[in-house]
Amino acid sequence: MGLFDENILPEMSEKLDELARKGVSRRDFMKFCTGMAALLSLPASFIPKIAEAVTGKKPIIVWLEYQDCAGDTEALLRATSPTVGQIVLDIFSVDYHETIMSPSGFQAEKSLMDVVKNNKGNYFVVVEGSIPLKDDGVYCCVGGRTAVDIAREVCGNALATIAVGTCATYGGIPAAKPNPTGAVGVKEAVPNATVINLPGCPVNAENITATLVHYLTFGALPNMDKLGRPYFAFGKRIHDNCERRSHFDAGQFVRQWGDEGARQGWCLYEMGCKGPETFHNCPTVKYNEGTSWPVQGGHGCLGCSEPHFWDTMTPFYKRLPNVPGFGIESTADKIGAGLAVATAAGIAAHGIARAISPKKKEEEDK
Ligand code: SF4
Ligand code: F3S
Repeated sequence: MGLFDENILPEMSEKLDELARKGVSRRDFMKFCTGMAALLSLPASFIPKIAEAVTGKKPIIVWLEYQDCAGDTEALLRATSPTVGQIVLDIFSVDYHETIMSPSGFQAEKSLMDVVKNNKGNYFVVVEGSIPLKDDGVYCCVGGRTAVDIAREVCGNALATIAVGTCATYGGIPAAKPNPTGAVGVKEAVPNATVINLPGCPVNAENITATLVHYLTFGALPNMDKLGRPYFAFGKRIHDNCERRSHFDAGQFVRQWGDEGARQGWCLYEMGCKGPETFHNCPTVKYNEGTSWPVQGGHGCLGCSEPHFWDTMTPFYKRLPNVPGFGIESTADKIGAGLAVATAAGIAAHGIARAISPKKKEEEDK
């Protein structure tokens, strides 16, 4: 605790006492700051800076929910040890969230508009769910206004918008063919807004917190890829960090649910795993406080953090077709060894791209 204790400022100390009264010990708090530093790939020397940032002024957040299943809200509320209520809601002032707030009706809508009016350019918006554009957006209305109308006003006047889950980022399942409501993600519905995308079905709550912690610590959003996703969470492929990767490289595949390979925890590529084409930090951060993630649970990755995964990653239980460099007749062994080379080349290319300065990378991405 040395580095941490030595850097405790008087105001931070007050905040820590307050958290302690709510059941969050200094150890819990330090664990939280350490975890955030690791998630953001920052060295340990940044831990006191993070601690100072998250015990400072609370940023205002409003949470909008449109065409969704509320899975992202569930993901946030399922965070435990310390709970969202203990830490996240204490660090951030969530002034509007339809699912968890107590006011309702016009009173609730007024509190949203009060934030927009009184804190222009100084609040964050989290959007969950897609926004329908077809027929002037009539397929999703809240308080008599269309989602697109509200989003343009609320996101357009915000400091930044965090689109959470694949529906809010790229349209998600509501946008799957034939997309009857003309569903799109926030950036497409509100092009002038500053948007960072945290796709996933659902979003990983740790990535939301880390994005906000990054802003509080550095006064800026994290660097993003050309799909608007932060590199810290979407910079590496599932396949690059998968615990079953050694079995892939060895050509050891599950070929039928419940077979010997499944019992041995072998690679799920032959069962349709989309890990080689999906960028997300699921294998390292996992879900539910690091308990597990889909592949650890025995199911292949569906590619849920990639745009339009419902259309582009299906059939889910068919292996990725025609991986470059391999014929249809290739054996799983050949695919395993060959794709490892292709994957390594991909990692190298991605690594090189990341090493380019963000500005130059942005220009390249255009
Ligand atoms: Fe893991 Fe899937 Fe890659 Fe196999 S194909 S190593 S299960 S990510
Ligand atoms: Fe989604 Fe694949 Fe992760 S299905 S949750 S990106 S393992």
